[in-house]
Amino acid sequence: MSIGVFDSGIGGLTVLKEIRKVLPNEKIYYLGDTARVPYGEKTKELIVRYSKEIVEFLLEKEVSAIVVACNTATALALKELKETFKIPIIGVIEAGATAINTTKSNKIGVIGTKATIKSGKYEEEIKLFNTKAEVFQKACPLFVPAVEEGILSGKLVNQIIKTYLDDFKGKIDTLILGCTHYPLLKDAISKIYPDIKIVDPAKETALDLKEILEQNEFLKN
Ligand code: DGL
Repeated sequence: MSIGVFDSGIGGLTVLKEIRKVLPNEKIYYLGDTARVPYGEKTKELIVRYSKEIVEFLLEKEVSAIVVACNTATALALKELKETFKIPIIGVIEAGATAINTTKSNKIGVIGTKATIKSGKYEEEIKLFNTKAEVFQKACPLFVPAVEEGILSGKLVNQIIKTYLDDFKGKIDTLILGCTHYPLLKDAISKIYPDIKIVDPAKETALDLKEILEQNEFLKN
């Protein structure tokens, strides 16, 4: 069987890497929509349209399940995708929200694209798992172009990180990387803020996928 994975660009490869660890033998089709990245600045209508087009393309490859390895598409289009297509489709936000059980202060930061943050989806999901959580959100629109350009460390990136994240210092103990591009900046972020625990939803997403495939009896024994 095969699985389809997509993102607006290269960010979803951070999710693909985790999927590979738990499903080493499945065939995976990855689509990075680099022609139309970034999604985070676009309207819901466009994000839904692009996501549906990609799912249709992946269905032509006869995939049995799809992972929306993009927080923006998960926040804005997952519901429509699930309503439109019959196969299992999973996103990254629920997985990210469940991965916060390490917080001690219940003060959680979420960073993502403008569209993801505006949607409020993370806060909604986090509160389902932790009613005491206080969620601090911030859009970091310069992170995606930096990552797509391969600028992952150095003065410029450190400056951008500080500009967005200094506000979180002393306020939160856990930071969710609510965009699949951001794990590529994880080393740079944790060097600047060593006391903040950084959560990447990718691992949890991969485990969710495996569970869903098992439930649907898609996996070979
Ligand atoms: N990697 C995507 C996400 O997880 C979106 C980046 C973008 O296209 O703006 O939100």
